[in-house]
Amino acid sequence: MAVGQIFLAAAKEINARVGDQMLISMTEFTLREAAREDVPSLIRLCKETIYEVYGPILSAEALVPWVEGNAAEALIEEQWPRMIVAEMGVGGEVMGVAAASEDAVDLLWVHPSHHREGIGTALLGRVEAELQKKGHRTIKLSCFSQNLRAMSFYLKRGWTVASEGRNEEAEAPETRMVKSLIEEDRHGDTMKMRLC
Ligand SMILES: CC(C)(COP(=O)(O)OP(=O)(O)OC[C@H]1O[C@@H](n2cnc3c(N)ncnc32)[C@H](O)[C@@H]1OP(=O)(O)O)[C@@H](O)C(=O)NCCC(=O)NCCS
Repeated sequence: MAVGQIFLAAAKEINARVGDQMLISMTEFTLREAAREDVPSLIRLCKETIYEVYGPILSAEALVPWVEGNAAEALIEEQWPRMIVAEMGVGGEVMGVAAASEDAVDLLWVHPSHHREGIGTALLGRVEAELQKKGHRTIKLSCFSQNLRAMSFYLKRGWTVASEGRNEEAEAPETRMVKSLIEEDRHGDTMKMRLC
């Protein structure tokens, strides 16, 4: 199993102040390929993230299969072999997961208790690099339009809105986004023309 780079991220929020000294929470995490033993942790991560993040966005009917049914189990059982996980330190709690297929980022979840610690950025960077290595020049993803936190996250990381649509299964609006993996496209004339 490939063990990835170890990341040390300073969470943005300041947890406590002692006199003049600021104590800033630090999270050290490792990215690695998922293993079968991760399946229970991944199911828990999926259910807890979906409940907290998508609860305010999706209808109760759309959420029930994920939170009470076995949609999370089915997804993880099938997809874990192509997932990348972020774990606390080395060998610790699984805090985030990402996966890609073909030319698309399929999923990216960071447990709500570890948001804004740099984990999402590291996971996204890892799957983008893998897609680039496979020769893809433009990659895509879909995001629920009301998921403003994720939308802002992707926009800050070089993704642009390609089209607006609807996720029929969840009965919710969704935004299709793309990112060029060719450096001059992102910063040069091509990009300027596309924005006009
Ligand atoms: C979107 C997501 C992957 C970001 O992961 P993360 O580990 O928190 O992200 P990072 O710490 O690397 O980057 C932080 C950025 O994410 C966004 N973000 C994360 N938490 C946020 C919050 N509570 N409020 C607003 N923006 C937030 C911001 O753009 C932030 O950048 P900033 O700190 O410069 O403002 C994470 O919020 C998540 O897993 N959400 C639930 C699942 C989801 O929506 N996945 C995407 C599906 S398309």
